[in-house]
Amino acid sequence: MAFTIAIDGPAAAGKGTISKAVAAHFGFAHLDTGLLYRAVGAKLLAGVPAIDAALALEAADLEQGDLLRTPEVAQAASKVAAIPEVRAALVDFQRAFARRAGGAVLDGRDIGTVICPNAEAKLFVTASAETRAQRRFAELQDKGLADDFATVLADVKERDDRDMNRADAPLKPAQDAVLIDTSDLSIDQAVQTAITAIDEKRGQSS
Ligand code: C5P
Repeated sequence: MAFTIAIDGPAAAGKGTISKAVAAHFGFAHLDTGLLYRAVGAKLLAGVPAIDAALALEAADLEQGDLLRTPEVAQAASKVAAIPEVRAALVDFQRAFARRAGGAVLDGRDIGTVICPNAEAKLFVTASAETRAQRRFAELQDKGLADDFATVLADVKERDDRDMNRADAPLKPAQDAVLIDTSDLSIDQAVQTAITAIDEKRGQSS
């Protein structure tokens, strides 16, 4: 049976961690849709026009490990993500993934609003810009990719601004999304809050 969990929110709010844990808990497949835009952004940085890159995207393009996790690729991703033709090229793949048998978790910016407006469960995961920048800074330091904190914070704010203010599929909570602010939650608490919210929806849809 198909059951779609849409998890949206800004950069470094904890979506990725929550999505992976939720997918493991329910035995669902997980798609990090940010990787699609990062893969297109990486191609743009390599000189391929963004729309061509989106139309020709292949599974192997998503499997580049930390190469897609750099701040440069993140910025390029948020630039290509503002191009309607790029977004349109990626819709069918995401919708097919969402309706696969056995359940799916998709995390991104527009899953509950545009890609899967009929998702059975929708979460919007957020946290203050400072908290998110602090987490991203620690993550980048672990990978040896760190800029200074002020640069990471500016980067997070710039990406928020572009993602929230673009004309096509801007970042915003779906009307029926459950909001989870992770600023003062541990990872375990955030995951448990998400699972409880989804369990309620599963109860309603069965
Ligand atoms: O989630 P992540 O930080 O990997 O996403 C990179 C960029 O891709 C975001 O800043 C956003 O501009 C874009 N994106 C999007 N829609 C999604 C997922 C990501 O526009 N569903």
